[in-house]
Amino acid sequence: MIGTLRRTGLVAAAWLVMSAAAAGVTPAAAEPAPDPHSSAADYTAGSWAAHAAGKADGLVMVRGLKKLVADYKTRAADKYTGASWAPFAEALAKADGVAADAAATAPEVAAAKTALVTAAGNLVAAEEGTFQTITNDVFWNDTSGNPIYSQGGGVFKFGDTYYWYGVHYSGAELYRADPTRKYDGDVSFVSIPVYSSKDLVNWKFENRVATRATSLAGGATLGQAGWVGRLGVSYNENTGKYVLVTQVYLPSLGGDGNGVLFLQGDSPTDTFDYAYYQNQVVNSPTTGTGDQTVFTDDDGKDYLIFSNRSGRSRAFVAKLRESDSLRIEPAVQIGSNSSGREGNAMFKLDGKYYHAASDLHGWNTSVTHVIESTSGNIQGAYTGEYTLAGTEMDYSHVTQTGFFVTVKGTKQNTVIFAGDRWADFAWNGIGYNQWMPVTRTGARPQFHSVSQWQFNATTGEWRVGQNNNYILNPDFQADRVTVSTLTGWTNTGGSVTNISPGANGSRFALQLGSGSAGVRQQITVPAGTYTLSAYAKTAGSVSGAQVSVTDASGATRTLDIPSSSGWTRRELAGIPLASGPATVTVRTSGGTLTVDGLGLVRTSGGTPPGLRHEAEAALAVCQGTIDANWAGFSGSGFCNADNATGAYAQFTVNASAAGPTALGIRFANGGSTARTANLVVNGSTVATLSFESTGAWSTWVTKPANVPLNAGTNTIRLDPTTTAGLPNLDYLDLGAAV
Ligand code: GCU
Ligand code: CA
Repeated sequence: MIGTLRRTGLVAAAWLVMSAAAAGVTPAAAEPAPDPHSSAADYTAGSWAAHAAGKADGLVMVRGLKKLVADYKTRAADKYTGASWAPFAEALAKADGVAADAAATAPEVAAAKTALVTAAGNLVAAEEGTFQTITNDVFWNDTSGNPIYSQGGGVFKFGDTYYWYGVHYSGAELYRADPTRKYDGDVSFVSIPVYSSKDLVNWKFENRVATRATSLAGGATLGQAGWVGRLGVSYNENTGKYVLVTQVYLPSLGGDGNGVLFLQGDSPTDTFDYAYYQNQVVNSPTTGTGDQTVFTDDDGKDYLIFSNRSGRSRAFVAKLRESDSLRIEPAVQIGSNSSGREGNAMFKLDGKYYHAASDLHGWNTSVTHVIESTSGNIQGAYTGEYTLAGTEMDYSHVTQTGFFVTVKGTKQNTVIFAGDRWADFAWNGIGYNQWMPVTRTGARPQFHSVSQWQFNATTGEWRVGQNNNYILNPDFQADRVTVSTLTGWTNTGGSVTNISPGANGSRFALQLGSGSAGVRQQITVPAGTYTLSAYAKTAGSVSGAQVSVTDASGATRTLDIPSSSGWTRRELAGIPLASGPATVTVRTSGGTLTVDGLGLVRTSGGTPPGLRHEAEAALAVCQGTIDANWAGFSGSGFCNADNATGAYAQFTVNASAAGPTALGIRFANGGSTARTANLVVNGSTVATLSFESTGAWSTWVTKPANVPLNAGTNTIRLDPTTTAGLPNLDYLDLGAAV
């Protein structure tokens, strides 16, 4: 025992001396060099002994497998369904055996790892999970209370855990320390941190997978690079390695220095090492990439989503080489726009691929441009470009597309839009990470610009948060330049502009000149009691300066703004608002009014958002059968109404206040034609709805509608107008965010 230890120690020390002496010398091809971060314990005993004895059999690393086994041993069987636990337990036992096997081969280690990660990824939680709160417009911390510095990266699910990789730039620290200052050009690379999470909300710092000291080819280090950014990580099922793919600019690496750098680790949180540098992707007109992200499809295949570096007019999808993920294969162009697009990222929702990108103006905010796959092939045909609904009024919650996280919940699929808000160039943010939900409404995806929301990563469900600010672009910072029509706001006449600086050191505020008819914004609110607030200051002799909100019932509540030469916070609490559209108006009839930081936050009451009524529930009527044969429904079944005119489905709902109420009707129509039905509320037909084909009976979508409700009990009936009858109905959401 002692002899073995000493021998191993000597060999390890000898290797360190050797490797220092031989730095830069390529090892013999047959003998892979030990990972610079490794020690004897990281390899199978057999392969290490052979290596120490000078035999070129190849080192077999088990560090990552051991780490994964130790991690997965902490899972408890009672937390998962029996059907998903059994294959996981088997894969874990097998992996444990391989990790301890002195003679295990590299393919055996990789296979054990892939089987374990796959089984862990297939674990199904026995319980429903919990809602966790995501708050935007503030700096985020990790679970130890330290700042999260992660930009231009991605979140990847390996096994049952999400890992978030991104770049820590030194400018991020300065910006966080003083968000009222501008830090142009400070993109010096610090490190690539990795955080882990099970719920996508609480992030635990794990490691810095790469730092300025990370060694590259030819004796270079990552700290010498002029640029490191836009990265993603994939797991390679053949090698059992995690491959990080990032943009790099470093001439000493070869060619013109603009390229894609590959770093490799043995576990998701390992220290990653240099693996390859690729200057040119075949079919791209330029070296390197414009913007890029890594997308992993349901079948585990990994793709680089990117635009060409110079001009950025073409959108590409390229495979990562299947054997080891260490090359970008020839790219396939899926779209083009002569104005250029960046922040290129891919998401898949309910089986369809969507490529999203921003305008081309340097880490700035814009609407999100989408093209969607028409063939079911990620590298096949795509539609022309359209604007992602919900991103128009505040330029994607004042962000640029960063990346997407697709969450397949037990009840629904929700995509998280991870927007990048960056101080550099634009100086229009107070935080970096702004995450918003994207769901499918009808045929297209819908972006929900919420400043606070709650998310259940198990079921995939989300709801608007308690402190959500219903006003969009409330800080007037989406435009980044001085304009006279502000994004999200309608100028109804008079002199309107955004001035700099705004309240609390923010960059912009809204200024209305004397006699201005004002600006207004139309939003949608659930019923409840609200607080309306604003920072305001005035000049000249103001009269009639105010911020008001008019709800769907026509009632107007006004926050009067008295004169003040300095920024003062004004507030009107206890405003009852009916559910439905509401108009926020800012105006002054004399002097100059400047406002910033508008707020409209629901403090209590009303119909809770997302109150769900299942079609199979006791109070509901289904003139047909309650079935459960098509997957994807929520609760225990859905209403399959008879294929006959008048074969209706009816829900009984309770409203705490009278007024228009937003509805979400979840349905599937596997037929090829739309089915129409009258929407009958308390006996009166209020609309005729068309339920388009969803392509399959197991493809469920939510259709928005608006209904006038009485305070108390109401009936909501869907009454088919043709013999085709209703689509299959899953549930009705009352007061849903639509
Ligand atoms: C199929 C399908 C049913 C559906 C029906 C219909 O039979 O399985 O779920 O309700 O078509 O056309 O309504
Ligand atoms: Ca039917």
